[in-house]
Amino acid sequence: MVVFVTGASSGFGASIARSLAGDGHTVIAAGRRKEKLEALAAEDERFHILPVVLDVCDRGSVARVMAQVESEIDVIDCLINNAGLALGVDPAYQASLDEWVQMVNTNVLGVLYCTHAVLPGMVRRNFGRIINLGSVAGAYPYPGGNVYGATKAFVRQLSLNLRADLTGKNIHVTNIEPGLCGGTEFSITRFHGDAKKAEELYRQTQPLQAEDIAEVVRWLLSLPEHVNINDLSMMPTCQGFGHFNVVRNA
Ligand SMILES: NC(=O)c1ccc[n+]([C@@H]2O[C@H](COP(=O)([O-])OP(=O)(O)OC[C@H]3O[C@@H](n4cnc5c(N)ncnc54)[C@H](OP(=O)(O)O)[C@@H]3O)[C@@H](O)[C@H]2O)c1
Repeated sequence: MVVFVTGASSGFGASIARSLAGDGHTVIAAGRRKEKLEALAAEDERFHILPVVLDVCDRGSVARVMAQVESEIDVIDCLINNAGLALGVDPAYQASLDEWVQMVNTNVLGVLYCTHAVLPGMVRRNFGRIINLGSVAGAYPYPGGNVYGATKAFVRQLSLNLRADLTGKNIHVTNIEPGLCGGTEFSITRFHGDAKKAEELYRQTQPLQAEDIAEVVRWLLSLPEHVNINDLSMMPTCQGFGHFNVVRNA
């Protein structure tokens, strides 16, 4: 298969690219940081990983790059909408509007631009696999999760609505919803580069790892044609659920 992975320069995306390339797929590894993508592609000479510099927020570039890949390499069989980010943990009334916009541009519009570019071809060929990286934050609220969680709720519902439009076709759409996951740049980005704060979040825990997500992606791609996993929520065993809280009068 030809697999297009967004956000392949780090974390889940890099791990997914490695794992699928190891299985013999051609992987188009997209992201903004060229050096990281090139280093990934050079890790193993058996890998067929093609680095592509792409900002998913740039609507024109997404359309151009996707068309270029399909005309110069091959049609895209599988799109993994992984590029995404959380910025900040401030309550909504103190959050940065610029950061909200960046999360919406990346996590919502980026997913739409990429999906819109590949979907008609998939339908024409009656073959396609779309895997979206949502989050448990799209299903469960938590303080400071305001717009990040809302973008992932969008991804969750978009995935289901794509399924509604694609019923009866050989096109799978899955929303993977990971919980606490360590070893990626996600929390460093969220805490604006404060690595200590990010480290503290994972102290004395055994969070999910990017390889766990990659393993799930491999499994999804191995399923028979008639099986679609709509939603896949995963957490480390050290993570559970919050409870409803009540603020009492003093
Ligand atoms: N880690 C977690 O705990 C966790 C849990 C649930 C869901 N998720 C979701 O899983 C996905 C991957 O997270 P991760 O933990 O692997 O984070 P990460 O290590 O920070 O990786 C994020 C990737 O997204 C790319 N990216 C960000 N903005 C982009 C843009 N405008 N255009 C293209 N690429 C962009 C980054 O590449 P460049 O900077 O090179 O562009 C990077 O490769 C995200 O959607 C995240 O929301 C993560």
